[in-house]
Amino acid sequence: MPAPHLPRPELLDAEPRTANRRPVRWGVVATGRNAATVTADLALLDDVVLRAVSSRGAGRAAAFAEQFGFATWYSDDDGRLGYEALLADPEVEAVYVATPHAQHHQVVRAALTAGKHVLCEKPLTINAREAQEVVDLARERGLFLMEAVWTRFLPAMQRALQIAASGEIGTVQWVNAEVGFPAPLDPTARIWARADGGGALLDLAVYPLLWAWGTLGLPDAVTAVGTLNAEGVDAQNALTLSYASGAQAQLTTSLLARSPHTAMVCGSEGWIRAQGPDEVYRPTRLEVQVGEAGVRTEEFELIGSGYVHELREVTRCVQLGLTESPVVPLEHSLATARLLDGVRAQLGVVYPTDH
Ligand SMILES: NC(=O)c1ccc[n+]([C@@H]2O[C@H](COP(=O)([O-])OP(=O)(O)OC[C@H]3O[C@@H](n4cnc5c(N)ncnc54)[C@H](OP(=O)(O)O)[C@@H]3O)[C@@H](O)[C@H]2O)c1
Repeated sequence: MPAPHLPRPELLDAEPRTANRRPVRWGVVATGRNAATVTADLALLDDVVLRAVSSRGAGRAAAFAEQFGFATWYSDDDGRLGYEALLADPEVEAVYVATPHAQHHQVVRAALTAGKHVLCEKPLTINAREAQEVVDLARERGLFLMEAVWTRFLPAMQRALQIAASGEIGTVQWVNAEVGFPAPLDPTARIWARADGGGALLDLAVYPLLWAWGTLGLPDAVTAVGTLNAEGVDAQNALTLSYASGAQAQLTTSLLARSPHTAMVCGSEGWIRAQGPDEVYRPTRLEVQVGEAGVRTEEFELIGSGYVHELREVTRCVQLGLTESPVVPLEHSLATARLLDGVRAQLGVVYPTDH
């Protein structure tokens, strides 16, 4: 699968956050598992206002608002969709979209149309066509948009990419990263439902891909194998990314196997191994070995559950009037969406909104 050559995104924030910037007024769409985890981290920032949350259900909206201290809440129960009511709130400036994948396109479009800046959970959309539409809309409106690729902002990952780029481990030749969670087989769960963009690839592949993308850039070819369930979504998959330079990456995601969540970058002179409770997506320690030297360990701080780093960046961008983050630019998300479309074509995974 040929892919365009794109420069690697910037490694570090161009400009650190400064104190005393005006607060950004946030709205959160949905009250699910990740909405709660990320909102708890959002509440740790000193320059945000938790303005509103929306849910399909009034009870969930009210409970979420009370739990995190939102000024107000909206739900589907009063004649219009809760998120539409939230987007009509002039006090909401930036929106965090935490619905299942299949609703991202619709909600992000509505948010941008309403003039809001957007942080949308990964994957940005179900496919590249939808991703291009929301990116075009954000650019047309001059609004901030970012896919919530939070791991990219963690200090340990930033440092790993910096070490790789510095040449300390020589020329990067091979990346190996994986993430596996056994997900109970429940056809109604979003992770298994074709209509919700279910499967391991869209849910998990972003994490191993970050390691390959951050150290080697976009591949020249991708070959994929996978196991599909009766619904036609991938229960697990293995991707081999190859590069004209001869470098390779092996990336695996699984909803069937419990795995150690490893990430390793190997160069001609040495290697970097991520460590921590969930090293591929939440690393807190790096092991580095160069030549015959012993293994060096570097430790990193994680604030909150790890989302604070990404949320600081979005807040910073909105405060500065930037329309995308230099760390996770929109071209990164478009390229990722195209790559995932290509992998799905090889696996035979088709979602209802693909055509
Ligand atoms: N960054 C990360 O670490 C991370 C981790 C897990 C998940 N995620 C991403 O976050 C998103 C949500 O995942 P999750 O695990 O939080 O899922 P979840 O627990 O199922 O929550 C999704 C929420 O979206 C709302 N929702 C459900 N179906 C909907 C529909 N048909 N239309 C509109 N809203 C609907 C519901 O909230 P209401 O009932 O309140 O409307 C639901 O609680 C996914 O895209 C996933 O990839 C990211």
